[in-house]
Amino acid sequence: MRLPGSSEGVREGARTGRGQGFVPALPPTAPSAVRRLPDMREEPAVDVVGLVKRYGSKTAVDGLDLSVGRGTVSAVLGPNGAGKTTTVETCEGYRRPDAGTVRIFGLDPVADAAALRPRVGVMLQSGGVYSGARAEEMLRHTATLHAHPLDVAALIERLGLGSCGRTTYRRLSGGQQQRLALAMAVVGRPELVFLDEPTAGLDPQARRATWDLVRDLRRDGVTVVLTTHYMDEAEQLADHVAIIDGGKVIAQGTPEELCRGGAENTLRFSGRPALDLASLLKALPVDSTAAELTPGGYRVTGKVNPQMLATVTSWCAQNGVMPDRISVERHTLEDVFLELTGKELRA
Ligand SMILES: Nc1ncnc2c1ncn2[C@@H]1O[C@H](COP(=O)(O)OP(=O)(O)OP(=O)(O)O)[C@@H](O)[C@H]1O
Ligand SMILES: [Mg+2]
Repeated sequence: MRLPGSSEGVREGARTGRGQGFVPALPPTAPSAVRRLPDMREEPAVDVVGLVKRYGSKTAVDGLDLSVGRGTVSAVLGPNGAGKTTTVETCEGYRRPDAGTVRIFGLDPVADAAALRPRVGVMLQSGGVYSGARAEEMLRHTATLHAHPLDVAALIERLGLGSCGRTTYRRLSGGQQQRLALAMAVVGRPELVFLDEPTAGLDPQARRATWDLVRDLRRDGVTVVLTTHYMDEAEQLADHVAIIDGGKVIAQGTPEELCRGGAENTLRFSGRPALDLASLLKALPVDSTAAELTPGGYRVTGKVNPQMLATVTSWCAQNGVMPDRISVERHTLEDVFLELTGKELRA
């Protein structure tokens, strides 16, 4: 049985400055109540250099570099099969690199696993929880493995798991299993948490609760690395975004930096499906793109200015297209991703 975020040891020493809120302040006598100011000279929380990971002849991660500063939220964004899970599982010590180095707080995730276990919480993409155990029992057990766990009842309440306490893991719904795995990852008050697609398949309320929890972790000084397919999740939560494709980081920066790096804006319009976009592109300046994202839903990128708007509306007029909707929007991470990879993030 692999318990994400579990620890056999007793944690000692100071923790980074924990405030009020989700991670309650510790009693003044506890050793972990000593506040330590962030030290910029400290090792990054996660430092991956030239990581290569192969499965037989398949290279899943192909020379990936990633550095995550302490106390930040980083999103690893990429399509199915990009290498996100392989990368985080290597950081978690579940896989050994074939080449390159991975350091977590300056330590080796495999050789120094015992030292890292109390400091790092893990929510796996594929459960990783013993399926016959009852939800609350499991969470309480995980809490007992840590020196200063969170209040289990409050965490259960917060993640809406109140009705599932006596249910075995295998009988929980997919969303409940995910919320339990998230609770187990954070119950030990880790300094660093890996969340592999924490909100995939969650209903809007559970998604919102997860986002709030990530924000509170960040406020309390916890470093969070999450993988996601959702651009809005990365834009909302992350200080730093690494876009990966084909096992490599193809762009990284703050969401603002990434969005500034591409075209200025995006023009969207809707009309009848299957318009002749090749003819529209001929009318547009070089470096423009035009795509039909959903049947009848079009996106044009490039230098979106009044002239371009006039070109698109005049092309519509010439082609007998009356757009139901036309809008100019800020360039989003989704647009950046499309430009970089030529692929939609979610097929
Ligand atoms: N245990 C394994 N054995 C063989 N190939 C694997 C294994 N795990 C992953 N792969 C392959 O490695 C590549 C990267 O997989 P990975 O799970 O890291 O991607 P991902 O970015 O997490 O994708 P997803 O968004 O679907 O979760 C894929 O091509 C996948 O098929
Ligand atoms: Mg994955």
